[in-house]
Amino acid sequence: MHGGVVAGADLLARTATAAYTKQGLKRQPPPVRAQVSRSLCLMARIFLSKADISDLEERYVLDAVRSGWVAPLGPHVDAFEAEIAMRVGVHAGLALSSGTAALQLALLGLDAGPGTVVVLPTMTFAASANAVVYAGARPVFVDSQISDGNVDPELLIRAVDALRNEGETVAAVMSVDLFGRCADYDSIVSALEDREIPLIEDAAEALGASYRNRQAGSFGRAAALSFNGNKIMTTSGGGMLLSDDVELLNRARYLSTQARQPVPWYEHTEIGFNYRLSNVLAALGRAQHMRLDTMISRRRAIRAAYVAALGELPGIRFLGGDDDSGESEDNCWLTCLVIDPAFNVTTPEQLIKSLDACDIEARYLWKPMHAQPVFAGERSFIDGRSDQLFATGITLPSGSGLTDEEIARTISILLAALLGD
Ligand SMILES: Cc1ncc(COP(=O)(O)O)c(C=O)c1O
Repeated sequence: MHGGVVAGADLLARTATAAYTKQGLKRQPPPVRAQVSRSLCLMARIFLSKADISDLEERYVLDAVRSGWVAPLGPHVDAFEAEIAMRVGVHAGLALSSGTAALQLALLGLDAGPGTVVVLPTMTFAASANAVVYAGARPVFVDSQISDGNVDPELLIRAVDALRNEGETVAAVMSVDLFGRCADYDSIVSALEDREIPLIEDAAEALGASYRNRQAGSFGRAAALSFNGNKIMTTSGGGMLLSDDVELLNRARYLSTQARQPVPWYEHTEIGFNYRLSNVLAALGRAQHMRLDTMISRRRAIRAAYVAALGELPGIRFLGGDDDSGESEDNCWLTCLVIDPAFNVTTPEQLIKSLDACDIEARYLWKPMHAQPVFAGERSFIDGRSDQLFATGITLPSGSGLTDEEIARTISILLAALLGD
């Protein structure tokens, strides 16, 4: 059934070995046929994207605790906001309890609310769409490009125009930088500027990625980052709103601290939220940020090892990848493998099960929002590409804390499953 694939096995083993050496992954992968033994399945669980925490984080958190700044805000919060804003190249940041909160506050700042719609990619995590609903607006979903799963810019703009022609108020477009790769902003930004529709960038998965020498998180009127435990860097839970728009940030700051009026007593004229990040968690974030470039390099090396070992198998490809000009780089948050069923009959389900049997976590790509029961009644512009990606793709263990041996083990299981062993 996989005849043509088996013939390439030796070549792949050599390619994988070369990739390991080139990428600084020290150990050699085991020979292809000897790879899947029971011993490989009796080791510690390998997670998709586990938090990578060192002594530095421990020292920073201890500092926050010992300094007495345990009550919500404090100097680590201010410094964390300034450091992330500087890295991304925006005026300022607002540290929040989650990326979802950052999206919600961005939407509220752009008057997304009842009677308006927000257009966003269908292939994303539910939080992007949930934030639209929290704001009181209705989400409208748009299909993906097949190359990287990001929103198809042409279809996005067609959707915006169609909605407007029907008399809808499009409060904003929300782009998503999927799995750590920026959306195609060349086409999106100018088309939205022409139409005077604000862009919100959901860069929850993409801190450290770039597009034409601009950092993820710097596109649009406002952007959201996530520091959830499985992201490229973490505050255990947290997020940040980024913007050049001081008014939007000030309004978000006010709403995120229970909409408290600037008077000596507790006075409220509207409903606010308790969405700020604590000083202790910001300390953790600052230490993670110092290690971010190293952590990204490691994820990049892991992706390169997968690509070298598996990328030439018939019917196998990987989403995204850096462009030749060097102007745009993915942060390699999660490496995503896609199988073309015309050339390889292994299914995502089989791969996930084979890995799970050896205590290795892999997952399906995000199930598109238009196919989620909770959003069944919402409008969408779909042509089947995100459904196809969902049916044929998986995310692979990509955490920067993974050892060379763990990556070699994962590749071994994948090779065996893909070769039909
Ligand atoms: C694309 C996307 N948007 C939004 C979020 C929400 O971030 P958080 O979990 O910090 O609320 C996440 C991740 O969780 C995400 O992957």
